[in-house]
Amino acid sequence: MIIQSVELNNFRNYTEERVDFCDGFNLVSGTNGQGKTNLAESIVFASFGFSPRSHQASELIKDGCTKSKVKIDIKKSYGVQSIEYIIDDQKQFFINKNPIKKQSDLFGTLVSVYFSPKELEIVSGGPQERRDFMDNDISQLSGNYYNLVQRYNKVLSQRNKLLKGDHKQVIDQIDIWNEQLASLAAPIIRTRKNFINKLVFPANDAIKYISKQTEEINLEYLSVKGETTEEIKINILKALNDNLSKDMELGYTTIGPHRDDIKIDLNGKDCKIYASQGQKRSIVLALKVAELKVFTQSLGEKPILVLDDVFSELDSSRQKKLYEALSGYQVIMTGTTFKFKPQKDENANYKQIKIKNGKIC
Ligand SMILES: Nc1ncnc2c1ncn2[C@@H]1O[C@H](COP(=O)(O)OP(=O)(O)OP(=O)(O)O)[C@@H](O)[C@H]1O
Ligand SMILES: [Mg+2]
Repeated sequence: MIIQSVELNNFRNYTEERVDFCDGFNLVSGTNGQGKTNLAESIVFASFGFSPRSHQASELIKDGCTKSKVKIDIKKSYGVQSIEYIIDDQKQFFINKNPIKKQSDLFGTLVSVYFSPKELEIVSGGPQERRDFMDNDISQLSGNYYNLVQRYNKVLSQRNKLLKGDHKQVIDQIDIWNEQLASLAAPIIRTRKNFINKLVFPANDAIKYISKQTEEINLEYLSVKGETTEEIKINILKALNDNLSKDMELGYTTIGPHRDDIKIDLNGKDCKIYASQGQKRSIVLALKVAELKVFTQSLGEKPILVLDDVFSELDSSRQKKLYEALSGYQVIMTGTTFKFKPQKDENANYKQIKIKNGKIC
């Protein structure tokens, strides 16, 4: 899929602006604080249904205004689709002018892979960052997965409430909650395992390419054992029972997909401890490039890559390698300057977009 244009109305520091994109590399440049990240955010908001940098959608409304509107035209293999969203005291999405009823109906319309410096936390941060990475990205491919996670979280909080209560009540009711929780946990774990397994090969391909064959990564989803959903469910139920006294003591559930993690090794060692800053950046880049491949396979359509403030941090040799690796995808990249541009022999189509104070110039 290709974003043809983004129309912004009272969004962050934009009043009324239309940005047209080419189907190759879009080099969005400008000095600090001009609106580059805001433009990237307007796109990602339509993919995730929320902003990766603001919990409150109302923060996206231009200061002094009461309503923000964004319209994005997307060219797909079967025609043009539009996503429009309006943020006022709530947020409302429209696909081809039709309002969507639930957030899960939004997913799949504009599929993007997003990388900003914050994404480095996938490698450097705690397990929650890695779980969010999986959940946000798998949800884009499957609204059902998103709904499953929402239902799991509801049942989890009900089980936790029970654990904090009366001992006899726990003994009487826990089996019902365990059964419900395990039924929802198993397909979540199965889907995440699948996703991570699919990422390993292309991620390795990408990191070898970026590092000139010196680096290798391995990914492993850390959870209960089991390959099929049934096996996983049996193991979750057992783990819930085995940990019941501990859970009762603590007043919350200590096992399940909300506690799982991804182990990321670089050259056979835990990358959190072992990898340098530059290597961590390369690992996340490799994961993102791998996602492009996995998404393309699942969707039968290429997703869009949004690189906010990442590209210009790389040295010119790595930038060149990345331009090569990303040729054929639509990439929207921001940076203060782009010293190095795609070369003709990379068969790359590119467009420069300069932003000053919320205006294209
Ligand atoms: N709701 C809002 N209304 C008006 N302006 C806003 C709003 N939210 C943020 N801004 C302003 O938008 C401007 C641009 O922000 P943005 O993060 O897009 O900059 P940038 O071009 O990415 O800069 P940098 O190179 O430093 O990353 C900032 O000056 C900020 O104060
Ligand atoms: Mg920025």
